[in-house]
Amino acid sequence: MSKTPRKILVTSALPYANGPIHIGHLVEYIQTDIWVRFQKMRGEHCIYVCADDAHGTPIMLKARQEGIEPEALIECISVEHKADFAEFNVAFDNYHSTHSEENRHYASTIYERNRDAGHIARRTITQAYDPVENMFLPDRFIKGVCPKCGAEDQYGDNCEVCGASYSPNELKKPVSAISGATPVDKESEHYFFRLDDFEEMLKKWTKGGHLQNEVSNKLDEWFAAGLREWDISRDAPYFGFEIPGHPGKYFYVWLDAPIGYMASFQNLCDRTEGLNFDDFWAKESDAELYHFIGKDIIYFHALFWPAMLDGAGFRTPTAVFSHGFLTVDGQKMSKSRGTFIKARTYLDHLNPEYLRYYFAAKLGSTIEDIDLNLEDFSARVNSDLVGKVVNIASRCAGFIKKRFSGRLSDNLSEHSLFDEFITAGDSIAEHYEKREFSHAVREIMALADRANQYIDEKKPWIIAKEEDKQQELHDVCSMGINLFRLLIGYLRPILPATAEKSEAFLQVDPLTWECLGAPLTAHEIAKFKPLMTRVEAKQIDAMVDGSKQDLTQTPGVAEVKGPLANDPISDTVEFPDFAKVDLRIVKIVKAAHVEGADKLLQLTLDLGGETRNVFAGIKSAYAPEDLEGKMTVMVANLATMKMRFGLSEGMVLAAGLGGKELFILSPDSGAEPGMRVK
Ligand code: MSP
Ligand code: ZN
Repeated sequence: MSKTPRKILVTSALPYANGPIHIGHLVEYIQTDIWVRFQKMRGEHCIYVCADDAHGTPIMLKARQEGIEPEALIECISVEHKADFAEFNVAFDNYHSTHSEENRHYASTIYERNRDAGHIARRTITQAYDPVENMFLPDRFIKGVCPKCGAEDQYGDNCEVCGASYSPNELKKPVSAISGATPVDKESEHYFFRLDDFEEMLKKWTKGGHLQNEVSNKLDEWFAAGLREWDISRDAPYFGFEIPGHPGKYFYVWLDAPIGYMASFQNLCDRTEGLNFDDFWAKESDAELYHFIGKDIIYFHALFWPAMLDGAGFRTPTAVFSHGFLTVDGQKMSKSRGTFIKARTYLDHLNPEYLRYYFAAKLGSTIEDIDLNLEDFSARVNSDLVGKVVNIASRCAGFIKKRFSGRLSDNLSEHSLFDEFITAGDSIAEHYEKREFSHAVREIMALADRANQYIDEKKPWIIAKEEDKQQELHDVCSMGINLFRLLIGYLRPILPATAEKSEAFLQVDPLTWECLGAPLTAHEIAKFKPLMTRVEAKQIDAMVDGSKQDLTQTPGVAEVKGPLANDPISDTVEFPDFAKVDLRIVKIVKAAHVEGADKLLQLTLDLGGETRNVFAGIKSAYAPEDLEGKMTVMVANLATMKMRFGLSEGMVLAAGLGGKELFILSPDSGAEPGMRVK
């Protein structure tokens, strides 16, 4: 009798849409994906949703810098994020965006219900304002001299040199990091969520088994410090949703970000027969709701979020699962050491299954940080996965194929060993359920040792030579294949791609926890193909080198940037690095408007025989007809960039102060297309 499946909705935090996915992020998405795959393998009705977190000042400014609309930027990043996740086999049931109609709907609903219940206050506050850009400045966009140690060029809330924290108005010689202007104080009316209204509810909730102990202890400190009102509004210009009834006022990005969980789920419901929003989110829902997050965003998920939901009459999460931060070789990920590794750079060099396995082998249920030690990474993958697990199949498959035409024997020869493996499955499942993946991995590897030991004892390569022992050879190898099948079944949430290849080799349906109990007998298997190769030191080196190079590239689109006013001359580059930039004289043979792009022109460039297509953010300064026939300079060896409108194959050089005015660089007369700039 099978029991009724649990209804489980799972989320990972929504990555910001202003940068690429890196291996730090992947700790979380891999952790969540393993847990979800485990639930699905157990036959539970488990749904995993996520989205890009697309709003806020940094995204607005980044788009501006790249000369495109924020919508174009988030579209471009969304494509990249989805591709990265897919290649790491992070299998969302839906991946949406906070910049969506569903999210606008739920953000408004949650705001309005809280407002009507009296949980929203309004008050005028004074803030730093950039008089050139005409915008209020978030703390991190104010720079100045540290009031404690005098270090220059420090951000508005803390000093990277002496570690002091302060408020932006304590900074000496403050300047806007956007325009370089000195900020002025300006008043504005803001809207606040009255978190203190929820003190009782939150005290109960945070002690109610919904959080890890260490996390709920941390919250005690926050309760002791007092729950403060939370500023949920921002003034225009802002990329986000306008607050209903208050034109020019926008929801702060963190207000609508977690609501993105609901929006993504709603979007899935709209496309899925029988899936109902209220079954999962209504106050009386009997579904389970879990949020996987990093420890840096606990405040938002364990205080604001349950309070907002409660205030709006929705259910609160069953649990919030926090994890620690990733370090590489014992240190914070560092761009200059090449350990700030993008998902894409990793994929260029290594198999994603390795990283999934390594993280699983390290992950527990606490908020302790986890370290990726690159040497240990290779050693572990090679010895465990290649040396132990895959090896079992390769040791047995050949005999089955050659001697027994691919058919496994009719009966299992060693029931007790098989049963031992099945029994271990219960405790492995328990470890998965509790997110103690490292314990699960340890038990599975102990079983892999048992299986190898069995084969070592039976020595199929010896009995293969003895004519009267063919039945034994058949039984031993069939037993080996069965043990391999169990190991792969247990590893399946961690190694989905390897499991899929193994299922093809075994010629079986996707393995479920339930089906593992019945052995595979009198069954034909396919020819064995190597399932995984060893990690080579040179691949790791290449990845680290590649990460150092990534430093110089911004993702997304070709950009034309001038130095910002008052911007200091940037760090020096070594000559060999400079020499890598291939600058060429080009002739603009064609210039055209780009449909749907406010700031871009499409240029066709002649490099003396070769033509290139480039999208350049210079529409504010030039009409297409002014450009045709002009000579200019381009970076000819810039990696191509995929844009919504097509492929951009380089960039042209222009000068400017960051505003609308731009000046294309042109050579003196006599220069010919294709000439190298030295
Ligand atoms: N956009 C917010 C989350 C909104 S959720 C409603 C955000 N985005 S993020 O891109 O900065 O981070 C996404 C997730 O990745 C967070 O849970 C964060 O803790 C996690 N990590 C980002 N860097 C990390 C490491 N270096 N190590 C482990 N997790 C990390 O926060
Ligand atoms: Zn300082």
